[in-house]
Amino acid sequence: MCFEVSRCRRLVRVKHKTLIVLFTVSVLWYLTFTLCLLYGKISIVPTLLDSRSSISDNNSRQDSFLDTFSHVGSSCKEKTNFVFIKGMKCATSTLLGVFYRFGYTRNLSFVSPLRNRLYLNWPYPMTKRDFRPSSRGYNILTDHSVFSETVMGEIMPADTIYISIVREPWTHVLSIFQYFKIHLVAGVPQNVTNPVVEYFTHVEKYESHYASPLNKERLFCYPAGFSFTRNLMSHCHGMPLGFPPGTKDISNDPDAVDQYLKHLDKKFGLIMIVEYFYESLILLRRLMCWAFRDILFIRANVARYDFDVTKIDPHVVDIYRNWSSIDYRLFHYFNQTLWQRISGQGSLFYEEVAEFKTVESHVSAYCQSVYRLGKLPQYPANVSLLVVSKSSWTGQFSLTPSDCWMLGPDPYHLLHVVQQENDVKEATLLAEHTKLPDNRTASEKSVC
Ligand SMILES: *[C@@H]1O[C@H](CO)[C@@H](O)[C@H](O)[C@H]1NC(C)=O
Ligand SMILES: *[C@@H]1O[C@H](CO)[C@@H](O)[C@H](O)[C@H]1NC(C)=O
Ligand SMILES: *[C@@H]1O[C@H](CO)[C@@H](O)[C@H](O)[C@H]1NC(C)=O
Ligand SMILES: *[C@@H]1O[C@H](CO)[C@@H](O)[C@H](O)[C@H]1NC(C)=O
Ligand SMILES: *[C@@H]1O[C@H](CO)[C@@H](O)[C@H](O)[C@H]1NC(C)=O
Ligand SMILES: *[C@@H]1O[C@H](CO)[C@@H](O)[C@H](O)[C@H]1NC(C)=O
Ligand SMILES: *[C@@H]1O[C@H](CO)[C@@H](O)[C@H](O)[C@H]1NC(C)=O
Repeated sequence: MCFEVSRCRRLVRVKHKTLIVLFTVSVLWYLTFTLCLLYGKISIVPTLLDSRSSISDNNSRQDSFLDTFSHVGSSCKEKTNFVFIKGMKCATSTLLGVFYRFGYTRNLSFVSPLRNRLYLNWPYPMTKRDFRPSSRGYNILTDHSVFSETVMGEIMPADTIYISIVREPWTHVLSIFQYFKIHLVAGVPQNVTNPVVEYFTHVEKYESHYASPLNKERLFCYPAGFSFTRNLMSHCHGMPLGFPPGTKDISNDPDAVDQYLKHLDKKFGLIMIVEYFYESLILLRRLMCWAFRDILFIRANVARYDFDVTKIDPHVVDIYRNWSSIDYRLFHYFNQTLWQRISGQGSLFYEEVAEFKTVESHVSAYCQSVYRLGKLPQYPANVSLLVVSKSSWTGQFSLTPSDCWMLGPDPYHLLHVVQQENDVKEATLLAEHTKLPDNRTASEKSVC
């Protein structure tokens, strides 16, 4: 168990640098397109204060298509209480920007990790010790956590909607591998042609190496006995798979696994699929009665690989399919339910997806031009406002640079703002909370 906070912080800083580099590259690319894509003609002076009022103009449902299209229903009321199970490397940082902007602009209350942590005790089960107290209850839980019906059911309102997202397991593990530098932590020799092939060819050996407490000095926030490559998505969805060590493990009981998947299907309002991101977002929008402007996103944390992911022998993928078979079942199950759901949406669904893609591409180009200019007290007229015109699927709405700064490029930016505001408002409760004894052992809690 590493649990050295400084190392975890370093990990976070590295992420940050990578993001900056990534955004610089994509900004250059977008620059060519922005001229024709921007329609900013009205010159308002946006403030850089992320003040709620300056960006919540005309964000009302009345402007959206919801009132005009009966299949969503005019009685459809914006849903504001939800839990998002933030897995790892499943476009979840991208969605974090969406959910934080949604909650922040509406003054909703977040279940927020303590101090400067990013996790709600992930990958350990969350407890009531792990988040900031709030005298007004909670609306949104969106930071890293393992799905827990008991704890979440207790702290969230009764009408809370559970949401998550999963990804095709092989591409998922490649991304995990890269992001957490599994090969370095596991001691895969530097001279091998492809560390992923080497790792999965001898998966038991390397797993025991990196999951071992003896490997302490190389671990960032890697808990002893926890596997980042095996059934990670299922673990995040609370499936009992033997972590923390000594807890129930149903991985050798296919019926129990099926039952758990069915249970998740009932409990969750929507499980999205990374591979069908736009379709998933439209389902989310319809489920939550949100508007286009609420599901706009800025891509975060896009991986570049240190190894060749294109020339991997199918045999290695087969090993992985066997190794992480529960995640394959989970993915298959929820990919099926997603497509069943889409087939029930009616023919206009694809029209809506296409329209959203267009809007989203304009917004991305716009925000990239904002990021390129950096945070300014005042933007040139052609960057001060983006107006998205009315269509069958959205009312007219506008975006200002402060909207872009809420969505990205650092999706954690609003987390810190929310935490600071909470700490001022809830100073008394927080002081009491900090005094509570925490008798958990190191193997029951995370430090990230
Ligand atoms: C805005 O206008 C300035 C000068 O008028 C130009 O240099 C810049 O490229 C424009 N920016 C965008 C994003 O259109
Ligand atoms: C908001 O909408 C109202 C009516 O639809 C309009 O009069 C007003 O100018 C809009 N405000 C902004 C900031 O777009
Ligand atoms: C946010 O909501 C709380 C209570 O729910 C209220 O006390 C506070 O004034 C609100 N803040 C803003 C900026 O609207
Ligand atoms: C890689 O290096 C190790 C020593 O660190 C050596 O034993 C092994 O033969 C090398 N493998 C290749 C493929 O060069
Ligand atoms: C599949 O995995 C199991 C354990 O999870 C292992 O015992 C078995 O040898 C593996 N089979 C193949 C073909 O890799
Ligand atoms: C998801 O399900 C659809 C419909 O059954 C199928 O066509 C598609 O190949 C699946 N996607 C993946 C990534 O397996
Ligand atoms: C921690 O304290 C609580 C009561 O405050 C008790 O129920 C629990 O068993 C204790 N846990 C440990 C690991 O000592």
